[in-house]
Amino acid sequence: MNILLIGSGGREHALSWQLAQSPSCTKLYAAPGNPGIESHAELVAIGSDDIDAILSFVQAHSIDFVVVGPEAPLVAGLGDKLRALAVPVFGPSAAAAQLEGSKGFTKDLCARANIPTAGYVRCASKDAALAALANFTIPVVIKADGLAAGKGVIIAENRDDAEAAVEDMFSGAFGGAGAEVVIEEFMTGEEASFFALCDGTNVMPFGSAQDHKRVGDGDTGPNTGGMGAYSPAPVLTAELEAEVMDKIIRPTAAAMAADGMPYVGVFFAGLMLTDQGPKLIEYNCRFGDPECQVLMMRYRGDLAALLFAASTGKLDQAEAPHFAGGYALTVVMAANGYPATPEKGGVIRNIADAESGGVRVFHAGTARTDNSIVATGGRVLNVTANGVSVTEAQARAYAAVDKIDFPTGFCRRDIGWREVAREAE
Ligand code: AMP
Ligand code: GLY
Repeated sequence: MNILLIGSGGREHALSWQLAQSPSCTKLYAAPGNPGIESHAELVAIGSDDIDAILSFVQAHSIDFVVVGPEAPLVAGLGDKLRALAVPVFGPSAAAAQLEGSKGFTKDLCARANIPTAGYVRCASKDAALAALANFTIPVVIKADGLAAGKGVIIAENRDDAEAAVEDMFSGAFGGAGAEVVIEEFMTGEEASFFALCDGTNVMPFGSAQDHKRVGDGDTGPNTGGMGAYSPAPVLTAELEAEVMDKIIRPTAAAMAADGMPYVGVFFAGLMLTDQGPKLIEYNCRFGDPECQVLMMRYRGDLAALLFAASTGKLDQAEAPHFAGGYALTVVMAANGYPATPEKGGVIRNIADAESGGVRVFHAGTARTDNSIVATGGRVLNVTANGVSVTEAQARAYAAVDKIDFPTGFCRRDIGWREVAREAE
């Protein structure tokens, strides 16, 4: 089949690498893609948010299947418009993408379906939110309801900060995303990312990972989109995974279908592993970035066929995904100044040297100039290695990082630290 992949980050580079190898893929296009994706797909100069141009391209090029990487086009209705043309698409409808697009929507769904998550209230006005704060202990979590590029979550350590966060959100600090806020109980535990495919009815586990959200070593500094990840996350044992499928994923799929918005695509569940068991922090309606890179590094099989089965109601007839044993770990190389003010245009050399010995360098924010690769985004490269242990995958990834010449970039030096410490015990 002819496949169109939407997106331009490291997640999409990893997806394009697996899709291009899939026996069921005849021809792969990517819109807009990036210099790494160019090795696996024909690039199309259409932005991932240009829905009309995507629809025209799909019709003009006999596209059989569309795989959507990022959330924004899904929240904006790309999935619905493709389905109206009878083109299968991996990614939910706009209604179902509310699972990521509205935190209040997801919390209400959890309450109805009895899914374990933090206690909460939704507040549509500043006065209601300030009043509601009195019923929460400190620390308390304050969230903008809508998409806020990963920045709409404030963990307030005292009441003054909590009130200031509420004031900020209702005065437009997060634009329309903060027109409503969710106030949540603070949960403690270790975090893990869990993925499951869904075809509207059937669900299939698709593995786990652990991200590193803070910009600095030792989990310090501001939050980012993710500075590195490894997969699987052994802290999410087989027993806990089964519990997550039973108490979180299956009830979500059933509730979405019952509410007339069957979910098609991947559930990305951000989990807190608390003393009372796994609880949902939030859902995303897409693969994690950089979690996808480590999942794809371990994936073995026909990814195009599996995602197509999920997109056509046939997941019950598909084989469970097969993953290589051991672990994959990815280190994000970011531009100096990330996340606040990433420096653009820095030249990067020696990527090919770093890829010797089975390491893969996924492009996340790069452009090709006449004869070099330059940084264009905050997160620039994802240096990804396999290993029999997280410790080995980490050593191999950093050995490759050290071969890359990117003077205007930086990375964390401790990706995987929790598991490396456990492996040392
Ligand atoms: P999000 O942007 O929703 O992924 O949230 C960012 C981070 O905030 C999460 O990865 C958690 O570390 C933290 N967080 C969100 N909600 C809670 C909560 N209810 N309790 C504790 N931490 C939370
Ligand atoms: N790495 C976290 C995310 O993709 O939201």
